[in-house]
Amino acid sequence: MPTLSIEGRRQLRGHIRVSGAKNAVLKLMAASLLTREPCVIRNVPYIGDVLNMIEVLEGLGARCQLDGDVLYIEARDLHPEAPRDAVRRMRASIQVMGPLLGRLGEVKIAQPGGCAIGARPVDLHLAGLRALGAVIDERHGYIHGRAAKLQGAEIHLDLPSVGATENLMMAAAVADGETVIRNAAREPEIIEVQNFINCMGGRVRGAGTDTIRIRGVAGPLGGVDYTVIPDRIEAGTLAVCAAVCGGDVTLSPVIIEHMEIVAAKLVEAGAGVEVNGETLRVFGDGVLKPLHIRSQPYPGFPTDMQPQVVAMLTRALGTSIVTETIYSSRFKHVDELRRMGADITVDGRVAVVRGPCRLSGARVEASDLRAAAALVVAGLAAEGETVIEGLEHLDRGYEDLAGKLAAVGAKIVRRVPTEAAVP
Ligand code: UD1
Repeated sequence: MPTLSIEGRRQLRGHIRVSGAKNAVLKLMAASLLTREPCVIRNVPYIGDVLNMIEVLEGLGARCQLDGDVLYIEARDLHPEAPRDAVRRMRASIQVMGPLLGRLGEVKIAQPGGCAIGARPVDLHLAGLRALGAVIDERHGYIHGRAAKLQGAEIHLDLPSVGATENLMMAAAVADGETVIRNAAREPEIIEVQNFINCMGGRVRGAGTDTIRIRGVAGPLGGVDYTVIPDRIEAGTLAVCAAVCGGDVTLSPVIIEHMEIVAAKLVEAGAGVEVNGETLRVFGDGVLKPLHIRSQPYPGFPTDMQPQVVAMLTRALGTSIVTETIYSSRFKHVDELRRMGADITVDGRVAVVRGPCRLSGARVEASDLRAAAALVVAGLAAEGETVIEGLEHLDRGYEDLAGKLAAVGAKIVRRVPTEAAVP
């Protein structure tokens, strides 16, 4: 298996281009199933999750072509059963449920697999789809949904689930009548789903607030040509790398409103942060102060930045407290950080990070996507060589992270083992 080798303690200098947002693209790909017409999505990152979602869509009968960062999707003839292996590999596959129920009146999909960061049920997705009139049967590891015609409804989510909000928006876009989703998630990616559906001829408003109103359209939705927003989590990860290494890095394009809390926390930690239009500059000497961080739904601190920030805080001069409120066990990266010399204790959902730790390079293994990113941050901050295994996790969500960091001065290389010599 390939590994990433990092020689830490180098300052970073230069510019890095931020890719399109993974968590938006995957949902827009699912939303493309709402129409028979061709859809074009631009600024698509070349990452494992996108390739996996292509496999899901193709398994459903859609035609997909990825040409550079432009993805063409044509879902002319679909059938309702999603391909099991691709679905089990990626939880976001569940997002095809809403569009398929809306378009075909039927969907059959494997239950999404377990997850390294804690139980991630889909009960809110299913309850919302039932409220729209779908009959859903869960048996033999599959979810089977049917609906002659979805009917608009008032839905109150028990918690602001990002995926459930998006699934219900997509289903409701082609339902009869009006749907109101209350306690909706407010993430920027949800505004992307709204904009995408509206470009197809749908009528959605309120995304970005906790109440979203969707008027179902009677006629078919049309094709769309859409450019996705920059990835705020990739930008945040790169900003943390710059803060921990010191130096002077610019990141663009970013939408700074999407990253305000991350930028504010970097400033609180003592990093230099400047914004100029769509460019975020992070600079300084790598000397950092401790922080108190609590992950929360948007616009709170993103759980998807928590592991990277924990890694950064091992270098801060003092004790930091990090509380994870979204996932039940999102501290797996801590064990690996400890191997590198980090002094971190975890009690339930709270991690206490006692800095500054003298991190030393070690062989470590990533357990999930953002844990992998946290190990990259730690490797950049450590003395000596860090070797990261489990790169398939990193590749799921980051487009050439190693290449981007190497281009600004990090000593980081991807090693692919050569085939054993044939005797
Ligand atoms: C999305 C993001 C993920 C991010 C998360 C929270 C994508 C592809 N993934 O995931 O990177 O970490 O938002 O910002 O966009 N929950 C339930 N029942 C449900 C649904 C969710 O209990 O039916 C719980 C989950 O277990 C979790 C919490 O709600 O504890 C938040 O999950 P949710 O907002 O749904 O996250 P995802 O959409 O899966």
